[in-house]
Parts: sequence; structure tokens; C-alpha cells
Amino acid sequence: MTSEPIQDSQDLSEAEHAKSFERSVARSREIDAELAVNPGKFRMLTGDRPTGDLHIGHFFGSLVNRVRLQDLGVNTVILIADYQVITDRDGVGPIKQRVYSLVADYLSAGIDPARTVIFTHSAIPALNQLMLPFLSLITEAELRRNPTVKAELEDSDRPMSGLLLTYPVHQAADILFCKANLVPVGKDQLPHLEVCRVIARRFDERYGRADPKQPVFPPAEALLSEAPLILGTDGAKMSKSKGNVIELQMTADQTAAAIKKAVTDSDRHITYDPVNRPQVSNLLSIAGLCLDRDPADLAEQVGDGGAKDLKALVTEAINERLRGHRERRTELAGDPEYLQSVLADGNARATEIAEATLNEVRQAMQMSY
Ligand code: TRP
Repeated sequence: MTSEPIQDSQDLSEAEHAKSFERSVARSREIDAELAVNPGKFRMLTGDRPTGDLHIGHFFGSLVNRVRLQDLGVNTVILIADYQVITDRDGVGPIKQRVYSLVADYLSAGIDPARTVIFTHSAIPALNQLMLPFLSLITEAELRRNPTVKAELEDSDRPMSGLLLTYPVHQAADILFCKANLVPVGKDQLPHLEVCRVIARRFDERYGRADPKQPVFPPAEALLSEAPLILGTDGAKMSKSKGNVIELQMTADQTAAAIKKAVTDSDRHITYDPVNRPQVSNLLSIAGLCLDRDPADLAEQVGDGGAKDLKALVTEAINERLRGHRERRTELAGDPEYLQSVLADGNARATEIAEATLNEVRQAMQMSY
């Protein structure tokens, strides 16, 4: 028995990656509308790399949305992508501490471990085994054309590792092991979702069941975040190494000190003008998200109060909004055994799901003995 080689018509070109953005935005909006009507249709998989502690950008950009979808009734799976930490850096850092810090933030934000599976992919052998057949379905040239992998390679001072080149395939295993059809992501992750869909389709074409209406894997679609991008306190991208981050685990006083240092500008009258006044507008956006208010209205309210009043407003808004989260976090930090039990339970449930999927894969490939 022979099967077709990978066809040009389905080749993953750079143009294909770029073209898909507009389509993804439109489709993401459709899905958002569908979610409210029929949440049970979706299984959502999202994940974080445990490379540091979560900050308010993560909170408003993804955590709040995950909790919203979980509470709508979407079947929710959250991955802590620990293997992915070693894609572009040497060593793992204080990884265990970071993994439990993520679990603590998920629970504090309202993720309910009874309804949502929280797991680390390194703990799930059957998930990782999917990588092997998946690697047979994509060419080296396609992997090298992935714009996000290219950008990560450029940002790093290391040569391309085998893992960096192939991690989008590993990410496909993260998504497909549980047959997720919904993946909330930022724009940079769209090429990886494209890879995931191509792998799912090719799997069924090459190894799959006779009935094309019963594919082993569903296509995974992106849910793009519509939350405004939050910048650091200096107006640059939020990153721990720049010291411009408001972490979820900071105390109220640490938050006040960080906002006090925030960069503003020389115009005393406060206005919301993201293009010409990025730093001031960023602070207004943060306050707006915390208070669920329009940043332009907040600007008017501060008016001639200047940077001093603006900073007082932002500090109080953040501390109020995160008060409950931080209290729960402190409580959880005092109960490491509970955090461990949540992850152990999530890993056991993920293992069950992954083994069931791997069995189907083996059957489709006639390798079930
Ligand atoms: N690549 C994602 C990031 O860098 C993390 C991740 C790993 C992920 N596997 C995933 C995200 C699967 C969504 C689905 O943030």
C-alpha cells in the first residue's frame, strides 16, 4: 500500500501563513458568537510556558477569558508547557516553582479544577508519543518557513535546535491529544495552528479511517484575544528583564512603588491618546480594564490632576481589582500540598484522555497489537 506524497496544493508556504490572518479574525468573531449559544460544542486547550510569573498582561489578555469560557460551559483544558521552556534557552531555570506559581494563579483567577483539567505535558507519555507519527506529516522546508519559529531563532543567540525547529509539531500534539477544536491565542501563534490543522488533515488522509466524515482529529481554530495589549510601566513590551512588569503576586505596596516609577510625559493635562501618548494611555487602559470603564472617560476625570492623580487612580484600581486574587494566592502559597494534588489529578485525567487518543491513532495506523 502506498500513499500520496505531501502535495504542493496543501504546502504550508509563508504566504499561506500571512494570508490566514484576516480569515482568522473573522472566524474568531463568528466562534465568539457561537460560544454563547452552544458552548458544549467546544473543547478549549490553552497553555503557558512556565518561563516566569504571570503579570497583569496575562491576567487581562488570557486568564479572565479562560475563566469566562469555563463558566460558559466550554470543556476546558489548560496546559503548562514545561518542555517548551527548553526550545530556546539552556537549562530549565526554577521550573518547579514557576509551574506551581501558574497553578496558583489559575486557581486564584477562578479556574475550577473540578471542571478544568490543568496538566504539564512532560508528565503525559501518550501525548508525547503522538509527536512521532506527526513528524512524518510535515517537511523540513515547511518547518523552516514558520515565521514564529524564525522570529524566535532571531531573538535567541543560539543555533536552531532540533526541538526549536519541531516544537510546532509538539504543540500540535498538545492540542490534538485531547481533540481540542478551540485554541485562544495571540497572533504570533497562528502559524502553529496552521501546522496543527495541516497535520490533523494529513493524518486522516494518510493513515486515517476509511470514512472521511469520521476524522480522527478535528480542525483546531483560533480564538483571538480582543483585549487591548498592555505595555510595561515604561511603555515598552512588558518583560521581567526590563523591570517594567506588574506581577499578579505583588503586594499593594510593591504595586504602588512600580506605578510610581512609571514613565509619563511632560503634558500635565491627562488625555487618552494611544498614538501620541503611549505611556499615559497605557496607564489609562490598565485602569480602564481594572474598573471596567472607558479609558477616555477616566482621562477626563483626571484632567488637570496630572501624572500624580493618574498614578494614584491606577494604583488603587489595580490593587482593588486584584485584592481577591492576591488573597487567594497567598492562601494557596501556604498549602503546597493542595497545589500538588491539583496538578497530580490534572495529569492523571490528561493521561486518560491521551491514552484513549493514542489508541485510536494506533488503530488508524494498524499498529494496535
Ligand atoms: N506556544 C505557546 C506560547 O509560547 C504555549 C503553548 C504550548 C501552547 N503548547 C500550546 C498554546 C498549545 C496553545 C496551545 O505561549
